[in-house]
Amino acid sequence: MNQTGIPNLDPSLEATLIADMKKVEDLMRSHIKGDYPLVVETSRHLVEAGGKRLRPLLTLLAAQFGDPTNYDIIKAAVCCELTHLATLYHDDVMDDAVLRRGVISANKKWNNAVAILTGDYLFSKVSDMLADIGPDAVKLQAKTFERLVIGQIKETQGKSDGLSQIDHYMKVVADKTGSLIATSARFGALLSGASPAVVECLTKFGEKVGVAFQVADDLLDIASSETASGKTPGTDLKEGIPTLVTLFVMAENDPADKELISKLSKPINDEELSQVIQSLRTHKVIEKVKAYLAKVATEANELLIDLPDGAAKDALKNLTFALVTRST
Ligand code: IPE
Ligand code: IPE
Ligand code: MG
Ligand code: MG
Ligand code: MG
Repeated sequence: MNQTGIPNLDPSLEATLIADMKKVEDLMRSHIKGDYPLVVETSRHLVEAGGKRLRPLLTLLAAQFGDPTNYDIIKAAVCCELTHLATLYHDDVMDDAVLRRGVISANKKWNNAVAILTGDYLFSKVSDMLADIGPDAVKLQAKTFERLVIGQIKETQGKSDGLSQIDHYMKVVADKTGSLIATSARFGALLSGASPAVVECLTKFGEKVGVAFQVADDLLDIASSETASGKTPGTDLKEGIPTLVTLFVMAENDPADKELISKLSKPINDEELSQVIQSLRTHKVIEKVKAYLAKVATEANELLIDLPDGAAKDALKNLTFALVTRST
């Protein structure tokens, strides 16, 4: 696999993406500076820890359908990654997470207040850079961020009347994760000057891929190791956050799962956690979730049908399948 994580990538596109990702990395790091050293240190903590950089990569790929040389594309890619990063600082407070990107989370290294304020600081950096692109960019990010926050709040509040648990979950996933991944693609298409039809197509694709990406992430909370994901397995289970895996187990309501189901409906303590993870790893619903993921991935790629054929379209399709079968 090459550096981008996209299988079977055209060598010339690979070189372009690697060169542009370097510009994204350089701009992102140089943008995080200020007069107060602690907040620069706390912000850099997770920037430097790595991460997959999926959102900027999608911005760059989407820009291939227009003129990819506009420097605003690099700025927008940085803004998408920093928006994402800010939400990770906040999410780790919400989820009481200990490990992020393979390093101790900011809420544990410092404390909740520092983690929340670091997220806020990163948002201020994002607004500053977006303003240079223009008011439409500020507005697009604001609307996206609104959806993301509402998704996160809905997750903590639980389902409201009239929605099934699974429909509530799908809405949460689309709002908290689909929103920013859709916008990452939209920024690339818009700022490259791609046609309105192409912009809409790539936005819809990003949204669908984002949903699949979050479902895959939820699966990894159960199936992956700490070394692979850089996060502590079972964090969702411990906090009692419903995921497609646990919702499928509860919906099946198999008498053989009686004990497991009673544990899934509330936060799980440390002693029970490894046993619950073990039961879920070998549970038949895992295959059902994987089949669901394969279906969403196919639907995402079908949305690309009207895009011009070429290396960029192939890359998007291959990226979709890599994201839903990933182990990190
Ligand atoms: C984690 O995102 C949060 C989700 C929306 C699933 P990523 O899996 O993209 O995290 P990094 O950026 O690679 O650390
Ligand atoms: C978070 O989802 C999605 C965001 C919008 C930040 P998760 O809580 O599943 O993300 P991880 O697993 O901690 O990365
Ligand atoms: Mg989390
Ligand atoms: Mg969360
Ligand atoms: Mg997760």
